[in-house]
Amino acid sequence: MIQRPRRLRGNGILRKMVRETRVDKASLIYPLFVREGSGIQEEIPTMPGQYRYSVDQMPYKLEQLKKAGIGSIMFFGIPHEKDQWGSGAYAEDGIVQKALREARRQFGEGLYLVTDVCMCEYTSHGHCGVLHGREVDNDQTLKLLAKTALSHAVAGADMVAPSDMMDGRVLAIRNQLDDEGFTHVPIMSYAVKYASGFYGPFREAAGSAPAFGDRKSYQMDFHNRKEGLKEALTDVEEGADIIMVKPALAYQDIIREVAGLVHVPVAAYSVSGEYAMVKAGAKLGYVEESRMIAEMAVGAYRAGASVYLTYFAEEIARLMDEGVIG
Ligand code: PBG
Repeated sequence: MIQRPRRLRGNGILRKMVRETRVDKASLIYPLFVREGSGIQEEIPTMPGQYRYSVDQMPYKLEQLKKAGIGSIMFFGIPHEKDQWGSGAYAEDGIVQKALREARRQFGEGLYLVTDVCMCEYTSHGHCGVLHGREVDNDQTLKLLAKTALSHAVAGADMVAPSDMMDGRVLAIRNQLDDEGFTHVPIMSYAVKYASGFYGPFREAAGSAPAFGDRKSYQMDFHNRKEGLKEALTDVEEGADIIMVKPALAYQDIIREVAGLVHVPVAAYSVSGEYAMVKAGAKLGYVEESRMIAEMAVGAYRAGASVYLTYFAEEIARLMDEGVIG
């Protein structure tokens, strides 16, 4: 008998009925850049359509996201001054801490506030930890990361997300949070984070490119698969509540494998370069923006992610409202 898979493709309602992958706005997290100053909303040149907001302007954006059905935000901070210890990362009046307090004051429990925990936006040398000579000192950095995560929790973060790739950071952060009474604050670990050219536009946005060398002594070699699985398992053991794979687009095999391996939710982060690539291609008229966004998003979920971080969160919400994806 001839097999006729086309039978299930002949009608739009039927196609939706038998879709294997469903996307839900509740699983989206929008990354947001906050900076010092006031009255500022400046477009990021490498990420057209994305902005850096001063804390007083940020609430308008948060309101807009909330209206679109996006309830979770990931904060990235751009400080006034940087120093060799990245002290702006854990300062009580640091930029992320101020943004958290303001978001909490205005939105109460109405938004879920996640913070990126790292040093690179705050260090004068742009590395993700403190230096010992020209090397990033893993164990010294752990103390500062734990301090940063704690200061975020104190300022109102609902969840912390370490992105530095130091060994042992999940355990160090978990212990610190627990010791100070924040046992309820989950950790989403950027566990499987590759050293990637796809972060280029972000480093422009945050002014966080390393002043010398690269991040290859802490972020992973993109040729490696088993190493990614080990990172994921290690972080689950250390107490990570959600495991992230990053970037998303060129790493869907890794998302799939990690999702099959760990028994915690898996998040995928569609990073700045993925965003910029679609924007640039669309501007040149080479690709159709909405369709690229839809396929990249659904691809991440189909691969096994159940949480998706993306600068396209609002566009995805709109595509869901229009019934293009969902
Ligand atoms: C901080 C951090 C980076 C990103 C998320 N957290 C930059 C990096 O590792 O260089 C990248 C996000 C993006 O490209 O959208 N370490």
